[in-house]
Amino acid sequence: MELKETILKRRSIRDYLPEPVPEEALRHVLEAGLIAPTSRNLRPCRIIVVRNRTVLDELAKAKNGAAALKCAPCALIVTGDSERADTWMEDCSVAMTQMMLAAVDEGLGSCWLQICMRRTEDGRSAEEIVRSALKLEEKYRIAGILTLGIPKAAKEPYTTADADFNKVEYID
Ligand SMILES: Cc1cc2nc3c(=O)[nH]c(=O)nc-3n(C[C@H](O)[C@H](O)[C@H](O)COP(=O)(O)O)c2cc1C
Repeated sequence: MELKETILKRRSIRDYLPEPVPEEALRHVLEAGLIAPTSRNLRPCRIIVVRNRTVLDELAKAKNGAAALKCAPCALIVTGDSERADTWMEDCSVAMTQMMLAAVDEGLGSCWLQICMRRTEDGRSAEEIVRSALKLEEKYRIAGILTLGIPKAAKEPYTTADADFNKVEYID
């Protein structure tokens, strides 16, 4: 698939078929994240692949708006070693973006779930819930979760007309 088409086709998918993500497709998605650029090439990102239903359901409790985890067969928890790089959030975000595009290329759907700075309705930190479910050391900050799976239904792709050029300024 051409990059332009891949970018237009990428949409947030929150409903998935129960089928597992094919191993080869998952590997290609992970490769796209692992070779993403990082500041000073410090590569602080660590990705945890969760396919265990019980753990996925536990993670879904981290906050409202994480419902995609309830039917996703796979989730990539993208963490950054905050002791290794102060740019962990930026580095992980670039990796997540590359993985979302690679997912489209593999015929998969994905949805980015914000974890950092979010709380449950009763005030618990979403990041702490995820960190404790995965038994992660504190230095690993959670940049986000990417759900992955075969989309239950196709979503309308973007067209280039959706690009709002009012948000661009030129200084020539
Ligand atoms: C940083 C970031 C955080 C997001 N967090 C969530 C989230 O917590 N839950 C969710 O369902 N979607 C989340 N999304 C997906 C957005 O809602 C989605 O990208 C936006 O509505 C545009 O739709 P599209 O991705 O189909 O173009 C997030 C996206 C980004 C980039």
